[in-house]
Amino acid sequence: MNISVIGTGYVGLPAGAGLAKHGHQVTCVDIDEDKVEKINNGECPIFEKGLPELLDEVVSEGKLEATTDTKTAVKNADIVLLAVGTPMDEEGNINLDYIKQASEDVAEGMKERNGYQTIVVKSTVVPGTTENEVIPILEQSGKKAGEDFGICMNPEFLREGTALNDFLEPDRIVIGELDEKSGEQLEKMYSNFNAPIMRTGLKEAELIKYASNSILATKISFINEVGNLCKELGIDVYEVADGVGMDHRVKRDFLDSGAGFGGSCFPKDVRALIKFMEENKVEPRILQSVIDVNVDQKTKLVEQLEQHYPDLTDKKVAVLGLSFKPGTDDIRKSPAIPIIQELKDKGAKVKAYDPKAIENMKQKHPDIQYTSNYKKALENTDAGLIVTDWPEFNSISRKDLKTMKRPLLLEGRRMEYDLDEEDTAGITWP
Ligand code: UGA
Repeated sequence: MNISVIGTGYVGLPAGAGLAKHGHQVTCVDIDEDKVEKINNGECPIFEKGLPELLDEVVSEGKLEATTDTKTAVKNADIVLLAVGTPMDEEGNINLDYIKQASEDVAEGMKERNGYQTIVVKSTVVPGTTENEVIPILEQSGKKAGEDFGICMNPEFLREGTALNDFLEPDRIVIGELDEKSGEQLEKMYSNFNAPIMRTGLKEAELIKYASNSILATKISFINEVGNLCKELGIDVYEVADGVGMDHRVKRDFLDSGAGFGGSCFPKDVRALIKFMEENKVEPRILQSVIDVNVDQKTKLVEQLEQHYPDLTDKKVAVLGLSFKPGTDDIRKSPAIPIIQELKDKGAKVKAYDPKAIENMKQKHPDIQYTSNYKKALENTDAGLIVTDWPEFNSISRKDLKTMKRPLLLEGRRMEYDLDEEDTAGITWP
């Protein structure tokens, strides 16, 4: 099939490359000329495991190309995937500007298409958006949804860092459809994928995405709340999580307690669902608590540091790990941002290190010292805070701690290094 993907971000590009791998002819569309040029040269513009290799392969085989010309890409496509961002505004509403603009561009291309094609919303949008916002714009092409063209909502469950693998091996594929024909066409696109397919309505598919992210975020805030109790009791929340997770109804996944969830999805999507519930006169009691617990959790490490140093003025503190999770340079809503802010507000001198995210953090916190490795960050400090569990931090040794003024590591993420117990403490474990 001829597939065009609008937007070459963390969703669009892995999806495009993955579909090309499965034999489809893919055109990736982006407004950014530099990105388009890079892709056509087989270079990967984003940091994603396995993607540079696959992109190089499918571009050189002629199965994937990139363009800035939406009109032609849409005209030639059996299926058009809309995979542009839906960021959050100050009040927690999702910003639909990109998806509206992309829909307008797609409508222009649809005018020139002879015959049926299916437009698929992959971007995360609140229930009703495809029907009330996207379809009316697409119908400006003069064509009627469900008759002249098909429309589906096909949410994505990709994690940053493992997006390609998640795309190629999904737990499930959710197809929300306006008309049966479009659902069938999309099911055909996924025929080489080994995953159960759920066919449903547009609004249901839209809500499945928000409810999926919200339950995962709820598991994390829940285990962090249990973890805060564990800390008081002097017991290990990971033992508790292991025991609870052995129940197949609960599962152990997403019960890793720590410094809270960050990233471009959980904080944004839970907030957007809260806002949407309020608009629909449903009180979001659980989800509001999920956010409240998470906000407090992010700076708990600083509170724990103050138990060792009640006055942080001029104390030297190493912050290890700046990205919101290992395997990415993304710092959006990373716990490291408020942690560094609190340390600065309290007069501490911060030295920070991350294998990938230093340049991004410099935009947020230009006035702290950055080091080229974790050893240099720890040298001559009063304490070190581990905020992201990059595997390399497991190599921190007793020798490294000896270079500190006082050997003290506070862990915001569970580490597996071999250090003396009296020199380390976990955020929700002893
Ligand atoms: C998340 C979802 O996992 C994806 O299914 C979804 O498609 C994606 O959002 C999205 O909506 O686009 P992502 O934000 O990339 O993916 O990252 P996760 O691996 O889910 O981690 C999110 C945050 O939760 C990280 O800060 C991580 O450290 C934290 N986390 C995760 C925990 O604190 N504990 C856990 O047990 C798991």
